[in-house]
Amino acid sequence: MNNAKKQWGSRFEAGPAAIMEKINTSIDFDRRLGLEDITASQAHAQMLGQQGIITTDEAETIVAGLDEVLNEWRTGRLNYIPALEDIHTHVEARLREKIGQVAGKLHTARSRNDQVATDFRLWLRGAIDRISEDIRGLCTALVAVAEQHTETPMAGLTHMQVAQPVNFGHHLMAYAQMFRRDVERLQDCRKRVNESPLGSAALAGTAFPIDRFATARALGFARPLANSMDGVAARDFALEFLAAAAIHGVHLSRLAEEMVLWSSAIIGYIRFSDAFSTGSSIMPQKRNPDAAELVRAKSGRIIGYLMGFLSVLKSLPMTYAKDLQEDKEPIFATVDTLELCLAAMTGMVRDMQPNPEAMLKHLQGGFPTATDLADWLVRETNVAFREAHQITGKIVRMAEHKGCDISELKLAEMQKVAPMFDERVFAVLSVESSMTSRVSYGGTAPEAVRRQIADFRAEFLQTGEPS
Ligand code: ARG
Repeated sequence: MNNAKKQWGSRFEAGPAAIMEKINTSIDFDRRLGLEDITASQAHAQMLGQQGIITTDEAETIVAGLDEVLNEWRTGRLNYIPALEDIHTHVEARLREKIGQVAGKLHTARSRNDQVATDFRLWLRGAIDRISEDIRGLCTALVAVAEQHTETPMAGLTHMQVAQPVNFGHHLMAYAQMFRRDVERLQDCRKRVNESPLGSAALAGTAFPIDRFATARALGFARPLANSMDGVAARDFALEFLAAAAIHGVHLSRLAEEMVLWSSAIIGYIRFSDAFSTGSSIMPQKRNPDAAELVRAKSGRIIGYLMGFLSVLKSLPMTYAKDLQEDKEPIFATVDTLELCLAAMTGMVRDMQPNPEAMLKHLQGGFPTATDLADWLVRETNVAFREAHQITGKIVRMAEHKGCDISELKLAEMQKVAPMFDERVFAVLSVESSMTSRVSYGGTAPEAVRRQIADFRAEFLQTGEPS
């Protein structure tokens, strides 16, 4: 298309180089903003009518015409032409085909700069709400499994070494708590997404008597942004979303990694359903955890999108520059990636079959109750914890030499290390007693985990506990 024929073309004589058109166009990705673009345009037109900037008849004609364009957009009937650059010009051009010259009044007191920032914020607000619900769904699935396994002992690890007995429910709830904070982070970010740039116009505001509060209200924004230059230039809301998404992706990757390990025949803590396993083209026995591996990997992409857009925004002067057109692809890709990962993770968690025997096996032989022995010495014999730690170390060494667990040592053998041991010590050396004893708030005792689950439900899932 010749530049002179474009919406902004009257000051040009010659057409753009083909490559200019190619680098400039964004319709291939910003067509996703169709709904938001049209909704925001309708709010703008109505406000122009109410303020007497255009007549109410003109406003009505524009709004009705935009409804028709929206319908075409929704049903995939809108024609996309790279020369028309972006979704904003496409919508306006189509509107003109439908209602004629009056379409040209829609852009009064507005610029594509405030328009695109408005559309983008509206779109991201919707995406944040969808993702928050998806995370809530994943948490619901986690809680359902956790609830079944508050009494399923497993080895709690630090440094990947057997540390203390915990239960599988407690372990899963640790992820549910991380994911809950991820939703809180997204909701906090949403507050800063949900402010309206509309009416900032190109950068300096406008001399037309617009009502920015009215358009903000109509579009569900909390308020108009207080500075028109900031309105068109700010993208920190997008960065904040990418950062929150990257943190969530990293959390998902930690759970995914554990599920990959757990599903290995060498560990065997869980079995993935057939629906979430893939076969090997050469080794018929295999059940590969591809979905978990891909969730693990895709968080890397999201980190990349955050880094990429931070780099775009770095050093950008006030106010709008075309650099800002590069904001959309990383956000769209992040949202798509997260929605996919969340659906896969929720399915995997819902379907996985835990194997309590395999979990118990790793509690036999790592001396997971050594801390309980040291704690017993402190409690019952009044030795200082440091000394109790030393005594327990010697007991562990003795058991290791004999090739048995500390609970299998004879009292007389223990008394050789420290004379204050008596029969009662054996009561704290079992995995069961260790686990049930940790009743502190947030601890691993089944009753504490059940309380954690009840609180989590009431405060976050809001389904309540049947009492
Ligand atoms: N497609 C553009 C973007 O995404 C719309 C804003 C264009 N504004 C301008 N002054 N050229 O940023």
